[in-house]
Amino acid sequence: MRVVVAGAVMVDGRLLLAQRDRPAPVAGLWELPGGKVETGETPVQALVRELREELGVEVAPGAPLTARVPLTADLILVALRAELVTGTPRPLDHRALCWVDGDDLRRLADAGEVVPADTAWLPELCDLLDGG
Ligand code: CDP
Repeated sequence: MRVVVAGAVMVDGRLLLAQRDRPAPVAGLWELPGGKVETGETPVQALVRELREELGVEVAPGAPLTARVPLTADLILVALRAELVTGTPRPLDHRALCWVDGDDLRRLADAGEVVPADTAWLPELCDLLDGG
């Protein structure tokens, strides 16, 4: 079983979303940035590496979100909250970045503009963003 780890980076009550550039089925949709855990890495190490590569920032991973999402028979998607330590996120591997509050996130989800797997986290992300 391989793990894909994504980061929920929140600053001042807003969540960082990244717009995928590929592959075609999810291009243009918004996700929590991240990627596959490589052999010999922990999910925490993988998230630090992925967000360094994709956003040009250093993060400190924290608590996991509750939902774990099966992507395929041998791939599972998890998310960790992540504190921004240094740097300003830039879309080095994505089409664009944006910061959303709870209402923005619900609007994107209602419009079908969130990567399908990531919709599993909507309730808990909206709770966090709404101050819950
Ligand atoms: O670049 P790498 O192969 O490490 O990872 P990726 O292509 O960004 O993600 C691996 C798989 O996880 C793909 O199928 C993505 O669509 C999926 N994924 C997702 O559903 N939601 C995310 N927030 C991140 C990745």
